[in-house]
Amino acid sequence: MKSRILSNEKIASGIYKLVFEWKGGIPSPGQFVMVDCKDKTFLKRPISVCSADDKSMTIVYQVKGEGTKNLSEMKKGDTIEVTGPHGHGFELYEDKNVLIVGGGIGIPPLLYLVKKIKAKNSYIALGFKSEIFLVEEFKNLGEVIVTTEDGSFGKKGMVTQVIEDIIDKIDIIYGCGPKPMLKILQDISLKNNIPCQISVEERMACGIGACLVCACKVKKDGGFEYKRVCKDGPVFWAEEVEF
Ligand code: FES
Repeated sequence: MKSRILSNEKIASGIYKLVFEWKGGIPSPGQFVMVDCKDKTFLKRPISVCSADDKSMTIVYQVKGEGTKNLSEMKKGDTIEVTGPHGHGFELYEDKNVLIVGGGIGIPPLLYLVKKIKAKNSYIALGFKSEIFLVEEFKNLGEVIVTTEDGSFGKKGMVTQVIEDIIDKIDIIYGCGPKPMLKILQDISLKNNIPCQISVEERMACGIGACLVCACKVKKDGGFEYKRVCKDGPVFWAEEVEF
């Protein structure tokens, strides 16, 4: 679907927030869209939904290569090709004490999750290397704890270090971020017997379950099998993912 860009602004070093017209339906939290970045590969990029309604969608992306650099140079009024929403998002449970854990560029889809989930209480732990983004948007949606690896904002250290203090209050955990962080969430979930859903990132090509580029290992009957992150995920129960 061709969509007109409404704004495209830098919100931190190498991190951009893009808002575009959207008439493709309301996504579920955790779903993603495929965006044509007009690079040599002709492959669209998977980018998680940060917010959406029946008129517009917001995505937040990191400039990592030629495609996302092209995207960062697009202006209000330009047209982009977007397909989706794709994938299997988070399963939402009402009236629970939820812990939301995000790391770096894994944080944007969690903003949409926190807005949509009807939680009893939301505890939100956000981890950054140094520069922070989107933190203000999370305030008023729950109790927010911020960590930075260099201590430049919030508590110094990794986001997973602040979780143990509040884990006793939590009914369910939702996470999105780098694999080492997701692995720690899996360990915390199993150790404390708290259900946990995580959004897994993998390289993608088709985004619709046809090419198997995005295969990830999940546990099955004492062994494992492969599932497609784009179609079966990107959200999985933490206990089933084989890291
Ligand atoms: Fe092609 Fe997932 S990206 S099957």
